[in-house]
Amino acid sequence: MKRVGVLVSGRGSNLQALLDACTGDFPARVACVVSNIAGVYALERATLAGVPALVCSHRGKERSAYDAELRAILEANGVDIVCLAGFMRVLGPGFLAGWPVINVHPALLPAFPGLHGAGQALAYGVTQAGATVHLVDEGTDTGPILGQATVPVLDDDTEDSLAARILPFEHRLFVQALRQVAEGRVEVVGRRARIALRTGEERWMR
Ligand code: GRF
Repeated sequence: MKRVGVLVSGRGSNLQALLDACTGDFPARVACVVSNIAGVYALERATLAGVPALVCSHRGKERSAYDAELRAILEANGVDIVCLAGFMRVLGPGFLAGWPVINVHPALLPAFPGLHGAGQALAYGVTQAGATVHLVDEGTDTGPILGQATVPVLDDDTEDSLAARILPFEHRLFVQALRQVAEGRVEVVGRRARIALRTGEERWMR
C-alpha cells in the first residue's frame, strides 16, 4: 500500500476524489495533506476524512528552503508518492528528486499551461478543451503525460462553465494516474510515460 502526500492550495475537489478513491483494494492511501495557505477548504476535507491536515506557508522563504521544509514534512509522514491537487507553487529539483509527483491541469497540455487553463482555451477559441494528468518536472505544467480527456467547448461557455465541465474528468484522470503509479505500471522513456494498461483501462479517456 503506497502512502500519498497531497499538496493543495484551495477548495480541494481533486483531493476529495483521491480521498474517496483510496479505500478497499485501491493501492494507495492519503497519508497527509499539506497546504501552503491556511484556512482553505481542502484542509477541512482532510480533517473530515481523518487525515492529518498541515499548513506549510511559502511566505518569505527561498524556493530551496521551502522545498526542503515541505520535503521534511512528507518524509516524516512516510510518503511514497506526491499528488499536486490544485497546489499553486512550482517545486524545485531538491523536492522532485524524492518521489514521483503527479499533477492535474485543466487544459490539454502542452497548450495553455499556467493559471486559468480553461479560460486560456476559451479565449483562444478552441472547440475541444480538456484535462491532463502528468508527472511533474521542473517546468510549469510540463513533464511526461499520463492521461488526457477532451471536453467540448460550447458557444455560450464562460471560463467557469467550461472549467466545471472539465473538472469531473480531472478527478477521474487523477485517480487513474495515482493507481497506475502506485501499482508501478508507469515507466518514463525520454519525454514519454509508458503505461502498462489493464483490460478496460484507457490512457486517453475520450
Ligand atoms: C483544478 O482545476 C486543477 O486542475 C488546477 O487547480 C484546480 C484545483 O481545483 N491545478 P481543486 O482545488 O482540486 O478543486
